This record gives sequence, structure tokens and C-alpha cells, in this order.
Amino acid sequence: MTRHFLRDDDITPAEQHEILDLAVSMKAARWDKRPLEGPETVAVIFDKSSTRTRVSFAVGIADLGGQPLIISTANSQLGGKETPSDTARVLERMVAAIVWRTYGQEGLEEMARGTTVPVVNALSDDFHPCQLLADLLTIREHKGALAGLSLAFLGDGGSNMAQSYALAGATAGMNVSIACPAEFSPAPSVIGDARAIAEKTGGSIHVMEDPAAALQGVDVVVTDTWVSMGKEDEKAERVATFGRYQVDAEKMALASPEAIFLHCLPADRGFEVAPEVIDGPQSVIWDESENRLHAQKALLVWLLERA
Ligand code: CP
Ligand code: NVA
Repeated sequence: MTRHFLRDDDITPAEQHEILDLAVSMKAARWDKRPLEGPETVAVIFDKSSTRTRVSFAVGIADLGGQPLIISTANSQLGGKETPSDTARVLERMVAAIVWRTYGQEGLEEMARGTTVPVVNALSDDFHPCQLLADLLTIREHKGALAGLSLAFLGDGGSNMAQSYALAGATAGMNVSIACPAEFSPAPSVIGDARAIAEKTGGSIHVMEDPAAALQGVDVVVTDTWVSMGKEDEKAERVATFGRYQVDAEKMALASPEAIFLHCLPADRGFEVAPEVIDGPQSVIWDESENRLHAQKALLVWLLERA
């Protein structure tokens, strides 16, 4: 049966491990796997802006012997005149996989239900699972393993990144603390799903308001923009509310002295993160950004083997 990757828990802990192992080996031998030789085409659709996701999928699909078809919904029928399922029925006759950055998770689910080719979430309002594969690969490279590590996410707990950290971190057996204002907490259903996974993997998920409590001795510190795409109208309110969650040198000092700092980018220096942290010695953001390429290539190979 066709597998899709719409949320971080669409793969089991063993499958996540397998994809990350594949990413490590494919990073070491970048040109060895060419499942899209032909070339076959992969459609990469954007309802929202992107630099890293667009470039890493385009380059990665070409690395795999294929051809990326980058589609902007602003000048396609999807989102206006045509449903996700009808679009999928058309695309599946011509492409090997569909990658889609969109708003609502339900559109991705409809797209996946309507097609026989793998559908990949390239960011929705709720989740950013491709970013999490890259982040986990980066953490593994710097820390050696994932299970048992502690991680603090500071900022918008209801964001795609925080919610993906809850699910993917639990899947990896990590201890994830999300520090956020109460009104910007992750969805209770996501936390429930993450805790159910954590019970099996030995990980844990904690949500709290106090950033200092989340940071005590952690191995990994993460933040993301306070103003995700689609939330621009709320910028003033968000900046006022999130001020105490900025990752600055003082907060970073509460983490382990060996802690690493991640940010999916793009970053607003001086808002969610201080320049001395994001541009400092503990930051691994450029490895993280490069790893989008390697993690997504591994994901595509893995999904295509099961299509
Ligand atoms: N991190 C990330 O997804 O970046 P882009 O928005 O540039 O794709
Ligand atoms: N949370 C951010 C991630 C950007 C890659 C957003 O959705 O805009």
C-alpha cells in the first residue's frame, strides 16, 4: 500500500530510525541512489513561500535521477477551481510523488486519500515533518544518538515546528519540553498522540510556561519564528506575548554546556533568538539546513520503495 508522510507519526520509531540511517549513508555517497532515473518527475507544490524546501527538494530529486516540477498554486487550478483529490488523480498519471506545502492539514489528507503515489507534507499549519527529519539527523550527527536526549523548544507551542517536535521527538525516544504562553500551547490531541508514542519509546513530552524550567541542563535548544506564515496579522500581539521566550545567551547558559542550538530558518534575529546564540559556537543551523537535502532524499527513496 502507498505510504504517505503527512505528519511525523506516519512512520513508526523503527521506520524513523531506518530513514535516518539511510540519510546518513546517502549523505556519505550522494550520487549512488537513482530511483527516479528516466527521468521520472516529482511535483513540488507551494501555497506558501519557501527557500530551503524548494531548493532541497529540487536538488534532491535531481540527485535521485529525477526531474522536479515546482508548482506555485497562485498560477495553478489547485486551491481555486480544483480540489486536492482531483488534482492528485491528474498528477498521479504523470509523476512519481507529490510534495505539497500548504495551510490546512485536511487538504493534505484529502490529497493522500485520492492518490496512489506518495504524498509528502512540505509544511502545513500543523506540522513540518520533513524539517524534523533534518533536525533529528543533525542532532544525531552532533550527539551520536537520539533516544534519551533532552530537548527544549521555546516560543510558539501551537506552531508546526513545536507540534512536529512533540511527535517526532517522542518517536525518537527523546524527552521534549515545550515552553510557551498557555494560549499558544500545542493542540491537546497532538500532545496526547505524542505521549502515547513516548510511552512506548521511553521518551516524554512536557508543556510548560516557564522557559527556565524547560531549559535546565538540556542537550538541545530549539526555537522558531513567533510569526509563522499565515499569522502575519497577529505580529504585534505575538511579539508582545513571546518576549520572555527569546533564546539569548542567558537562557542558553541554563542548558547543558555541550548543548546545541537549532532553528529551522528563516530567523528573526532579535526576536525569537539573539544574534549571539544563532551566530554563536553552539549553533548548528547550517548543518541543519543542509540536512534538509539528505533527509528528504532518504525519505523519497524509502517512500518510492514502498509505492
Ligand atoms: N525551514 C524551511 O522550511 O525553510 P523554507 O521556508 O525556506 O522552505
Ligand atoms: N513555523 C514557520 C516555519 C517556517 C519554515 C512557518 O510556518 O512559517
